[in-house]
Amino acid sequence: MSNDRAVSEHYLHGDLLKAIQAAIPRLGKTLDSITIEDLAPVDEFHIGGRQATEHFVGQLNISEQDHILDVGCGLGGAARYVANRYNNHVTGIDLTEEYIETGNALCAWVKLDQHISLHQGSALSMPFQDETFDGAYMMHVGMNIDDKARLFNEIYRVLRPGACFGVYDVMRDKHGELTYPVPWATEKSTSNLAAPDQYKHALENAGFVVSKENNRREFAVDFFKRLAEKVAADGGLPPLGLHTLMQQSTAVKIKNMIENIAAEYIAPVEIIAHKR
Ligand SMILES: C[S@@+](CC[C@H](N)C(=O)[O-])C[C@H]1O[C@@H](n2cnc3c(N)ncnc32)[C@H](O)[C@@H]1O
Repeated sequence: MSNDRAVSEHYLHGDLLKAIQAAIPRLGKTLDSITIEDLAPVDEFHIGGRQATEHFVGQLNISEQDHILDVGCGLGGAARYVANRYNNHVTGIDLTEEYIETGNALCAWVKLDQHISLHQGSALSMPFQDETFDGAYMMHVGMNIDDKARLFNEIYRVLRPGACFGVYDVMRDKHGELTYPVPWATEKSTSNLAAPDQYKHALENAGFVVSKENNRREFAVDFFKRLAEKVAADGGLPPLGLHTLMQQSTAVKIKNMIENIAAEYIAPVEIIAHKR
């Protein structure tokens, strides 16, 4: 099986749009009243959810005129957050067809479809012309991509000179055997973790200038602690959440990820760079 197929099969739900739609009445909402805040627990598929997105995106110097690229956009939760906050245009690309179809439907529900277009495709070979975008970001995607040199060359190609590019990925910390499955991979052979230095090296080789690196380990530990406390206080899972995406495998994937972070084998890290 090609790596692209393995990745999209890993993320395939099978009936995701219906599963999200079925939860809406339990939120006391309808398709007309649902907001991007209501959807955030399910459509921000990275450590820290919306809170992490706000922290990360706030460092990218985005303005209203900017056309922004979301690399590996998933369901497009971050794209909707950006388009809503900056009143600008966002284009997303993702390998997983079901995420793109679902994500475009969610954009229509919250009436952001005029600002956002999500496309199925590979970040390693994007159907965009050179120097199309004023900025780009990528959240929790590099763990599925072995060839980071090609990935960053391709992102560099589609950015205008001076454009900002931010990465928020789970990265390798100390050496040690990770426990699988984790949210991005069922087993070691489909996980492509790299250390922050490897990311920075690949970014600089592509031509980017790296200006910031933030290890978000403590934020992650605190986030998961607060999430567990909330589930206990509420007496169960909320109508929408990462369990909607990962279904029966959610508990073991999240548990392993928390343990891998606690052991300092991995950590979520932000890296901010710009194109010369
Ligand atoms: C953990 S999800 C994160 C999704 C989204 N960025 C978010 O934070 O909500 C990882 C996503 O990366 C996508 N992905 C992995 N490899 C890719 C590639 N080569 N090209 C495009 N998308 C890819 C997957 O399809 C999946 O949607």
